Amino acid sequence: MLRPIAQTMIVRHQATAAAVTMNNILHETLDSIREAGTFKSERIITTKQAAKIQVAGSNRKILNFCANNYLGLSSHPEVIEAAKLALDKYGAGLSSVRFICGTQDIHKELEEKISKFHGREDTILYASCFDANAGIFESLMTPDDAVISDELNHASIIDGIRLCKAQRHRYKHLNLSDLERLLQETQSARMRLIVTDSVFSMDGDIAPLAEIAALAERYDSLIFIDECHATGFLGRTGRGAEEHLGIGQPCDIINSTLGKALGGAAGGYTSGPKPLIDMLRQKSRPYLFSNSLPPPVVASASKVFDIIMADNSLIAKLAANTKRFRSKMTAAGFTLTGKDHPISPVMLKEASLASKFADEMLKRDIYVIGFSFPVVPKGLARIRVQLSAQHTEEEVDQCVDAFTEVGKQLGVV
Ligand SMILES: Cc1ncc(COP(=O)(O)O)c(C=O)c1O
Repeated sequence: MLRPIAQTMIVRHQATAAAVTMNNILHETLDSIREAGTFKSERIITTKQAAKIQVAGSNRKILNFCANNYLGLSSHPEVIEAAKLALDKYGAGLSSVRFICGTQDIHKELEEKISKFHGREDTILYASCFDANAGIFESLMTPDDAVISDELNHASIIDGIRLCKAQRHRYKHLNLSDLERLLQETQSARMRLIVTDSVFSMDGDIAPLAEIAALAERYDSLIFIDECHATGFLGRTGRGAEEHLGIGQPCDIINSTLGKALGGAAGGYTSGPKPLIDMLRQKSRPYLFSNSLPPPVVASASKVFDIIMADNSLIAKLAANTKRFRSKMTAAGFTLTGKDHPISPVMLKEASLASKFADEMLKRDIYVIGFSFPVVPKGLARIRVQLSAQHTEEEVDQCVDAFTEVGKQLGVV
């Protein structure tokens, strides 16, 4: 007879001294996070990711303006169907890293599709873009080389650079003269890599890649861009920041995510010259020592590439929604940062105002999030609105109307 688990479990009644010490330290840490007002709680969504969602404890439909679901493809029927078919045909997962027995034909097909999409020689898949960023610098850059990185780059880039043994330099955010100074100072390095997010997610601002490319050419440096907030939707055909800026393809290495516009499941990649990708397959630790991407995830991302390579209408819809929101909000008296990007931060300055504003918006069935220090600089708290191609014009207007109403109520406009 099977015995209930509870009866067979060995329960540790007495906590060890080490466990008590750890608990005390953790309580102090958590208390200090709460006191600083930066404790992050998580709202529980009970539906698929979409423009309209429901959250636990309420049966009201709320309009979602804070997902990275830029093209609205996270729960697109064809994307779901592709994942289901892959689940049936290829199983739930590979139980292996890529180089042992974790590579299926669909992994190779997706890598080829991404290379074609970006017009690059080759691509390597990772479990996330965080992993792609963690793996590349350590594998590529040695103490003879120099990494020159924008100070506001994403945390995963900062962590990836920390792991490498190259000379490390930071230039002031988007500051070309500071970048040039560092390029002059590092002329003796064997190889130099300028590293930048192409789009900075807190401001929705786009790196000046034409000017960066001119400096890279003058000082014989390589360029790495993180395209997480660009791939699939920025530029007329969604090729990203290079296309948006109309500058050809001056960037040597592209890292991006499958976890935002490209279906939103998970996964990341590096696209670039073939010898780089060959080397990463040999040396990149998050690739070598982590499980292969699950087949349904591979298939859903692959379907997204098929959709966006066949048709630009979702990209155009997102651009139109972005323009509509930004111009109506500016006309209503709000200050927005960034330009032409669906990340549309509404500046409120005070942290308490940003969080109160977001609460008031939720009462009006609009889900947005306030960001304050330390995620953004002190005194620059904001609500970061993110548009999606899935929003209708009426939904965009509903969001603007709610902002205007709350803005008047709280004395912002
Ligand atoms: C700019 C940037 N780079 C990298 C990442 C990490 O991507 P992933 O979720 O695939 O690990 C993110 C996600 O927040 C991001 O915004």
